[in-house]
Amino acid sequence: MDNILVVGASGTVGLELVRILKSKGHNVIHATSKVEDLKPNQVHLNVVTKVGLKNAFEGVDKAFFLSPPGYANQHELLIPLIEQAKINKLKKVVLMTAMGANAVDSAPMRMAEVYLEKSGLQYNIIRPNWFMQNFNTFWLQGILSQNKIFLPVGKAKGSFIDARDISAVAANLLENDKFNNQDFDLTGNDVLDHDQVAQVLSEVTGSKISFQDITSNEMLSGLLGAGLPKPYAEFLIMILGFFKLGYAERVTENVEKILGRKPIAFKQYAKDYKSSWVK
Ligand SMILES: NC(=O)c1ccc[n+]([C@@H]2O[C@H](COP(=O)([O-])OP(=O)(O)OC[C@H]3O[C@@H](n4cnc5c(N)ncnc54)[C@H](OP(=O)(O)O)[C@@H]3O)[C@@H](O)[C@H]2O)c1
Repeated sequence: MDNILVVGASGTVGLELVRILKSKGHNVIHATSKVEDLKPNQVHLNVVTKVGLKNAFEGVDKAFFLSPPGYANQHELLIPLIEQAKINKLKKVVLMTAMGANAVDSAPMRMAEVYLEKSGLQYNIIRPNWFMQNFNTFWLQGILSQNKIFLPVGKAKGSFIDARDISAVAANLLENDKFNNQDFDLTGNDVLDHDQVAQVLSEVTGSKISFQDITSNEMLSGLLGAGLPKPYAEFLIMILGFFKLGYAERVTENVEKILGRKPIAFKQYAKDYKSSWVK
């Protein structure tokens, strides 16, 4: 059994990843940016300030890395983690970036991927598509207040992935060496536009939820109004633009290849998270 450091342990992917790893008997070290009231299995590690970096890796065998949302300079957050993993001679690192991150080598997430690929460490890179869980987190407010999903994506479709599948894939890759040093784009099987997403949410909740296409400028104003830092808000507008151009439509077989089962369907996600949208 391994000592596994999980960055983002309290987040959408990390929480379920921690649950799976613990259920397999691993000792999981939960990295957190919080400084107070740490539980025995938590360690302070701030990937922005680098405070706690060396300490967090003590006794660690393997690690899962992500860059927290809110930052567009992801390489500056991730590369020091990879460097520390090298210093501590970790047996394996699983890095989560995002589908499309490897489109150009100058993209911040890609710079971190290349650094890991050249590090000499055993690794996997996973690049998930847009999460289904965005509908019960980032896009939730519009659904609760106006029964609407507001996004600047037109009729473009996405092969949304359930974050629970990402956690299961990450756990599998951390445990097994079969796929070492490979990268995987991760998608669901259902390819839906946002009218179709809204229809499924309407069916499951019993209330009429609809999609409203908005302009990128309207979206940007909303994000800035919600307090997002400008560089990150602009990054989100850029990747929503890629969604609108159709880059999120692609389906891969990688979840099934790694887990030996189909990805979770969008309707199943909606049923499991129904309480998020029922007022
Ligand atoms: N949402 C999508 O559709 C999508 C699609 C593809 C890829 N992604 C990628 O997924 C990642 C986000 O994953 P997620 O949704 O699972 O995360 P999340 O739910 O937003 O949680 C963020 C995590 O990061 C930790 N964190 C925040 N600030 C930190 C800091 N300064 N230092 C260390 N840890 C910090 C938080 O824990 P504490 O509060 O305890 O520090 C929390 O566990 C991003 O890299 C994003 O690009 C997202």
